[in-house]
Amino acid sequence: MAKDKLDKITASTLRARKLGGSLVGDKIAALTAYDASFARLLDAAQVDVLMVGDSLGMVVQGLPNTLAVTLEDMIYHTRAVVRGSSRALVVADLPFMSYQVSPEQALESAGRIVKEGGAEAVKLEGGRAVCPAISRIVEAGIPVMGHLGLTPQSVNVIGGFKVQARDEAARDRLVADARALERAGVFSLVLEAVPKGVAKLVTESIGVPTIGIGAGPECDGQVLVCYDLLGLFQGFVPRFVKRYAELGESVTGAARSYVAEVRAGQFPDERHSFADAPRSDADPPDEARYASGPNAGVPKGRA
Ligand code: KIV
Repeated sequence: MAKDKLDKITASTLRARKLGGSLVGDKIAALTAYDASFARLLDAAQVDVLMVGDSLGMVVQGLPNTLAVTLEDMIYHTRAVVRGSSRALVVADLPFMSYQVSPEQALESAGRIVKEGGAEAVKLEGGRAVCPAISRIVEAGIPVMGHLGLTPQSVNVIGGFKVQARDEAARDRLVADARALERAGVFSLVLEAVPKGVAKLVTESIGVPTIGIGAGPECDGQVLVCYDLLGLFQGFVPRFVKRYAELGESVTGAARSYVAEVRAGQFPDERHSFADAPRSDADPPDEARYASGPNAGVPKGRA
């Protein structure tokens, strides 16, 4: 069996990282991904979980929030991420209004993301109100990740992107929701934008791993939106984001150089053009004439 098959992260291996309420081994490192090329790059970095987040509405589609993202959008992007990944667990978000109507609607939506998109688990937002939907999906054999704290699909109720569970009553509700989600069958739980002490309390209160985003260092794992991590998103930057690269600047710089070279007639040059000479038996095969470098084979669909 190939090594990456042996290492393959599943919902149950992830769940098993927490034993008797404590994390065993390394913390869980998760990132979002929305297409095959990024999935391949992030999977090669040994990211444990690739979340096809409905944040794609903001960073890919340019929307102000995640509310307009459709199930079709999620299936399309999940399919791409699944194609690009091999080791990481692929978890896809159920978008707004694809699970809130009834447990049956939730199961149908989750089933489509798994059957048509290839997701290995789904994530949905909310506390006790979504427990019947979670149980229904889990009973059908689909692993579910929960999401509490700042739940962006409720942005209009929350009144913006704000830190949650700041007072005692809200903190107690959060802990009760987390316990209810665990009982309903989630294999892990995202905690977004809550004070670090609250995240620690929730992490200590449940037996499944917590994955924080803006929830401090005491969670069992962390997730970031990959566009934030890479400096590709030019919108607002939440305090919890650490930019590990400034690819946005590199992209604009590279495009600026390209524009200048095209305008100056410097690109394409001899090296980047096909010769006119007629073919002979001594010529390399068509594939090698088309591309160069370590992955010179022409990807299907590019010829
Ligand atoms: O939509 C998303 O990307 C998410 C993760 C950041 C947790 O929900």
